[in-house]
Amino acid sequence: SAEHEMVVVANRLPVDSRTLPDGATEWVTSPGGLVTAMESVMRTVDSGAWVGWAGAPGEAPAPFEADGMSLYPVRLEQEDVERYYEGYSNATLWPLYHDVIVDPEFHRGWWDSYLAANRRFAEAAAPVAAPGGTIWVHDYQLQLVPRMIRDKRSDVRIGFFNHIPFPSVELFSQLPKRNSILRGLLGADLLGFQRESDTLNFVAAVRKLLGYHVDGTTISVPGIGAAPVREVQARTFPISIDSATVSELTEDSAIRARAEELRRDLGDPERIVLGVDRLDYTKGIRHRLKAWGELLDDGSIDPHDTVMIQVATPSRERVEAYRQLRDEVELTVGRINGEHAPLGRPAVSYQHHSFDRREMTALFMAADVVLVTALRDGMNLVAKEYVASRPDLQGVLVLSEFAGAADELRAAVLVNPHDIDELKAAILRALAMPAEEQEEAMRSLRHQVMENDVQAWAHDFLQQLEAMHTPAGDTA
Ligand code: G6P
Repeated sequence: SAEHEMVVVANRLPVDSRTLPDGATEWVTSPGGLVTAMESVMRTVDSGAWVGWAGAPGEAPAPFEADGMSLYPVRLEQEDVERYYEGYSNATLWPLYHDVIVDPEFHRGWWDSYLAANRRFAEAAAPVAAPGGTIWVHDYQLQLVPRMIRDKRSDVRIGFFNHIPFPSVELFSQLPKRNSILRGLLGADLLGFQRESDTLNFVAAVRKLLGYHVDGTTISVPGIGAAPVREVQARTFPISIDSATVSELTEDSAIRARAEELRRDLGDPERIVLGVDRLDYTKGIRHRLKAWGELLDDGSIDPHDTVMIQVATPSRERVEAYRQLRDEVELTVGRINGEHAPLGRPAVSYQHHSFDRREMTALFMAADVVLVTALRDGMNLVAKEYVASRPDLQGVLVLSEFAGAADELRAAVLVNPHDIDELKAAILRALAMPAEEQEEAMRSLRHQVMENDVQAWAHDFLQQLEAMHTPAGDTA
């Protein structure tokens, strides 16, 4: 097979395959922040490859070209999907890494499957990298892959980026096989994290659980047998979006017209408040609806002039905690609408499906306030997308302190979403904010987001990876 200078390895390919009723295959964009960010990075890379799962169990399609890169589908059987993906990745690691918002489940069988699946990704990725090339592994589903690749290819540079939080050493220590995870990660030359606190948590775990020497961001990994000590870097790289492309979409006349049409379709409310999330318990949708319901109950918000839109993209629908969340959210939305919706229009317009980029831009342009109230979030790219969609400098972002984006987007209305009264006050403050104040805040937010886009993020990561590593065989 072809050799690529740059190989991305992630659990998902940027597109999911779906089988249509007539048996034909359709490809749709995969959900989530990882794909949103990496897709635009890969469009600018020559001879890039992406190794990942096509989103359905069984038979993987043959490698194919799309958007100027080569896609290498990895096969996952139904059992891998249940144990590696739904189980270990999304019912053990995901809740543990998000500070146990729900209880993580520990099952020994899931670990075996995680190990086997990670091996399959490593085996698929190792042969497609050019000699001395770069392999960039992504996210919590593939933490064992860096070491597995290193064992096969000592000539390549290996980077790893963790898109979600890295938990405190106390929480991380609960994980059975925790040391295997750390050793797996340390197969990389450079490890990237979203927030400074994530990097510090990781380094603390390495120090405490493995006893390795750490000097600032440099970790000394002891060699096995006669192999010398290897130096690994752990650093912070807050991820971003393709800011210019998002911003330019707002000049598209069809999208502008669509933004106006959306407002008309909702009965021309004075104010539109928007939430956009994967339907995930980390996103704080329950807390947001609770605050919204109370504001309607106590008359602080009049549903005749203010409408809330909640886009909740379907996610991990076979995992129990996600089913429960869906039931609860839909019950709550039903109650709020039953009690408060005027005839012929909703108090909360709830959308349990995904929208394409153009429709999302129209929604952001129409939204007077966007609520990002995550209880925990690695970064949250919705916050950055909203800012990039407002070159008119209007609109207010309410942002949780527990989202990585809060480290950079200081001019947002920052909230602790666990404090429902604070959340209610923040929503009212956002709704009442004078145009000049909105403009001042949005200008500062845009400065952040337009300067620090995903291309700069990738460039920074890859440059640091290149600078530090001397592939085996080279003499320094
Ligand atoms: C987050 C994770 C990604 C994941 C995405 C969607 O953004 O960081 O790794 O791909 O959610 O979740 P899913 O389970 O559908 O891939």
